[in-house]
Amino acid sequence: MPNKTSFPVLTPDEAAAQIPHGATVGFSGFTPAGSAKAVPEALAQRARALHEAGEPFKISVLTGASTASQLDDALADADAVSWRAPYQSSRKMRKDINNQQVQFLDMHLSHVPQMIEFGFIPQIDVAVVEATDVTTDGRVYLTTSVGVTPSILRHADKVIVEVNRHHSTRLWEMHDIAVLPPPPQRNPIPIHHPLSKMGTPFASVNPDKIIGIVETDAEDGVAPFSPPDEVSERIAGHVVEFLMNEKKAGRIPADFLPLQAGVGNVANAVMAGLGESEVPPFYMYTEVYQDALVDLMRKERLLGASTCSLTLSEPKLQEVYDNMDFFASRIVLRPQELSNNPGVVRRLGVISINTAIEVDIYGNVNSTHVTGTRLMNGIGGSGDFTRNAYLSMLVCPSQAKGGAISTVVPMVSHVDHNEHSVQIIATDQGLADLRGLGPMERARRIIDHCAHPKYRDYLHRYVEDAPMGHIRHDLHTCYELHRNLLEHGTMLPEG
Ligand code: COA
Repeated sequence: MPNKTSFPVLTPDEAAAQIPHGATVGFSGFTPAGSAKAVPEALAQRARALHEAGEPFKISVLTGASTASQLDDALADADAVSWRAPYQSSRKMRKDINNQQVQFLDMHLSHVPQMIEFGFIPQIDVAVVEATDVTTDGRVYLTTSVGVTPSILRHADKVIVEVNRHHSTRLWEMHDIAVLPPPPQRNPIPIHHPLSKMGTPFASVNPDKIIGIVETDAEDGVAPFSPPDEVSERIAGHVVEFLMNEKKAGRIPADFLPLQAGVGNVANAVMAGLGESEVPPFYMYTEVYQDALVDLMRKERLLGASTCSLTLSEPKLQEVYDNMDFFASRIVLRPQELSNNPGVVRRLGVISINTAIEVDIYGNVNSTHVTGTRLMNGIGGSGDFTRNAYLSMLVCPSQAKGGAISTVVPMVSHVDHNEHSVQIIATDQGLADLRGLGPMERARRIIDHCAHPKYRDYLHRYVEDAPMGHIRHDLHTCYELHRNLLEHGTMLPEG
């Protein structure tokens, strides 16, 4: 067990005062789980006070993924951010990014640690990381996520540790932390099963860099999931039916393959649907462990999970903490370079299920930019999994904004996952299995199985009228639906 700390204890304001205007700050956090909270909140207040006094204050913010409201929301509300990477889901931050107030680097999450290690992104001046404890010899016992924190700790000039007493001091039993050496010294990663461990239960830091600790008792503040709506349940039904048929056909082995499910209510509905299906007990190799998984694990439908974060609402997190003898051996928390590692995803044969904003008739997927211009959240880990999965599935409702938008379009307005990586698309209308199909067959299948009936004639006509080619496109009209949306607020103004 970790020993007691002997670093200076700072108030959040004293810690925030150590961060100058223009600094690059690496914060812990992968979703609200494990996010630094007290110091960014104090930093936001400091920024406000400085702005009122007519002084500039903006920082560059690097994290594992999205964060708690005390970080992205608070700093964006205080206009305290000039640069942000690699993912966010804050409404205010999104607005600032789309107004060019904040420069945003939208990155594959598995790439972030090596980008830091290679020196490809700005030098980190200060790290602010949440931990259950830190020892005098520099062992940092992280809380509910690992994210990119091990690399931030290695590369930051100064380190502030938020010691959060709210969390179980047994969390270290789940952690498996390793930083990969630089190429060409990279040996095969020894993860042969979702629960394999290869590292240490703590992250390491040079203790001389620690300028102080801040004591907190803050909750992660993860919102509980609402029960799945009808559309999510229909999508989940198509996915579960497809996976059952794949198993019957022998294309998924009898003891199944590890699953990855993205963030959000559709993913949660799929997981709940799988739990109630005849799919045998399974493992997950995923980046986010969400509420639905706690029940599945207790019912022994989910046998074990490798993840980067425990993104659990407070009651579910307490359930885990109250039953650590059960959960600690069934969950492994890893850095995002390993939880999302392309080589491991391919080795284990992961089945990936992620959510799209729009898909096109040939199977290209946009997960990030509405009408190709306005960022929603970012690509997150969806590319790490989609490109390398045994079966890569993208799901979304067939319509958005009450039917004004078809999520199946002739040509996506931004590409995150291309037709070469995407194998299965499912909407509430049905599922299109694209494996082994050429472009024209893909188009017919996606339109007939996934598009909302009200858009099918338009989409079929588009393909038939488009000039001949291996992939048929009419460059004059491929964005007609998007143009209609921008000009008339609906994709089919004539109904
Ligand atoms: N055009 C315009 N808006 C659209 C749209 C489209 N084609 N499709 C969805 N939207 C809007 C919805 O109306 C909703 O808007 P609101 O917030 O104003 O209500 C918003 O996008 C979110 O859509 P929703 O249906 O609620 O889905 P979600 O919460 O599951 O989010 C993504 C969907 C794609 C934004 C989200 O999954 C994401 O960010 N994915 C990329 C990262 C990722 O996959 N991470 C997991 C990897 S492990």
